[in-house]
Amino acid sequence: SGGTFVPAVVVGTGYGAAVSALRLGAAGVPTLMLEMGRLWNQPGPDGNVFSGMLKPDKRSSWFKTRTEAPLGSFMWLDLANRDIEPYAGVLDRVNFDQMSVYVGRGVGGGSLVNGGMAVTPRRSYFEEVLPQVDAEEMYSKYFPRANSTLRVNNIDKSWFEQTDWYSFARVSRRQASNAGLSTTFVPNVYDWDYMRREANGAVPKSALAAEVIYGNNHGKVSLDKSYLAAALGTGKVTIETLHEVRTIRQQNDGTYALTVEQRDADGKLLATKEVSCRHLFLGAGSLGSTELLLRARETGTLPNLSPEIGGGWGPNGNIMTARANHMWNPTGTKQSSIPALGIDDWDNPDTPVFAEIAPLPAGVETWASLYLAITKNPERGTFVYDAAKDRADLRWTRDQNAPAVAAAKSLFDRINKANATVYRYDLFGKQIKAFADDFCYHPLGGCVLGKATDNYGRVAGYKNLYVTDGSLVPGSIGVNPFVTITALAERNVERIIKQDVTDS
Ligand code: FDA
Repeated sequence: SGGTFVPAVVVGTGYGAAVSALRLGAAGVPTLMLEMGRLWNQPGPDGNVFSGMLKPDKRSSWFKTRTEAPLGSFMWLDLANRDIEPYAGVLDRVNFDQMSVYVGRGVGGGSLVNGGMAVTPRRSYFEEVLPQVDAEEMYSKYFPRANSTLRVNNIDKSWFEQTDWYSFARVSRRQASNAGLSTTFVPNVYDWDYMRREANGAVPKSALAAEVIYGNNHGKVSLDKSYLAAALGTGKVTIETLHEVRTIRQQNDGTYALTVEQRDADGKLLATKEVSCRHLFLGAGSLGSTELLLRARETGTLPNLSPEIGGGWGPNGNIMTARANHMWNPTGTKQSSIPALGIDDWDNPDTPVFAEIAPLPAGVETWASLYLAITKNPERGTFVYDAAKDRADLRWTRDQNAPAVAAAKSLFDRINKANATVYRYDLFGKQIKAFADDFCYHPLGGCVLGKATDNYGRVAGYKNLYVTDGSLVPGSIGVNPFVTITALAERNVERIIKQDVTDS
């Protein structure tokens, strides 16, 4: 039984997975990565790998018949979405009853679709969220390692001050400052130097052609160009794409056996395979890793898993909102899709908020200022296994986001008051709605560090089974999460390779 044997298997190819695979490969451990999405390196009929944001096609979405853009409407009209054929596209929106979660699908996971904002969390908040982790070691060793391997870089400030492409951000900065709020530049994995050359017309446009959530054709250093390229470069790592792990069980000799479904990009089942391994790393993301372990616990294939699996989930306090500017404050027909500034009010004792100033690259003047607010919301959700649907269901109610909405409202009420402006109510679907509280970009938790696992991501109840991704972080980190996920994975895998892998 057990099919093909490999010493180590990594499920997924997002941040936690990519770190684990690189370090395993560098330690000489033959490692197989299994990714349910496709490899994004072949141009489609239009000559591009990814379809753009303004005219999305089937490449944009994970098995949908219509795209489900976060800003689906304008003047309450559904202008952004398109009917498409179901396909293994790059962005998925997983719709639970009262919360929808956006995730990336493909080699690179979320790095293919995200805004690239690479933020190291405030140390005091990191210590509050993960008190059992040695913060000194994180901030002196693993955060720097993550930032340099991810190739995080900073915008040239003099260019920022004069380019049309960031006039939307300068307008928002001035209005924040009118309310006594300060902004900060946000580092990114998008190559800012490439963006300047886009502005000069020297290279094909990507950030300056409204590309981001359905993939960037140029400019962004996604994981396939950083960690995963390095992992493949060790010669020890292989990646199988369009391979979805369905079940995990432990065999008598302690090794793990996985059932894996291989499909084509149109969703047709090609094969059901068995793969077995000694060391199993789950990097399928907060939704994916939690679902795999819940299914294993509830169907009895890994019966000793902790009752903590499924707990401690949160959307990182994500709330999207937009303001309407006066006619004399246009936000510009030219907008880079990569954010460059954040409003930093995290030290506010009542309602801490870090709000990124987001672009709305519609190609026409909208007079809208858009924000993704990251707030501190103590509410947590729980994943439960739905046996009939054989999937994880999220117990999270809309009203659990009330503290997050209140915090965002308190910040943007101040900005509106100082500038005599109002909210936009037409951008988030058919309802009259100023705060998008029903979707998130930053799912965190489900297999929380020190609860469902030990302090290094070793899954409680099982040997040689690890969680490496955003599911370890208990629901909130106060900034965009991928740098934290990467650094934590670096810390954990270093210990695991030394203690569990190379000595066994
Ligand atoms: P991630 O989700 O990256 O990877 C999981 C991978 O596992 C995916 O490739 C998935 O297909 C695969 N998988 C899942 N289940 C599987 C199974 N059963 N078998 C095989 N494969 C499976 N963060 C940030 O710091 N800065 C930012 O600017 C943004 N912006 C942003 C925008 C948008 C639109 C989104 C959707 C997200 C962001 N984020 C972000 C969030 C960031 O992308 C996210 O936190 C990380 O990608 C999470 O990394 P993980 O390693 O946890 O999993």
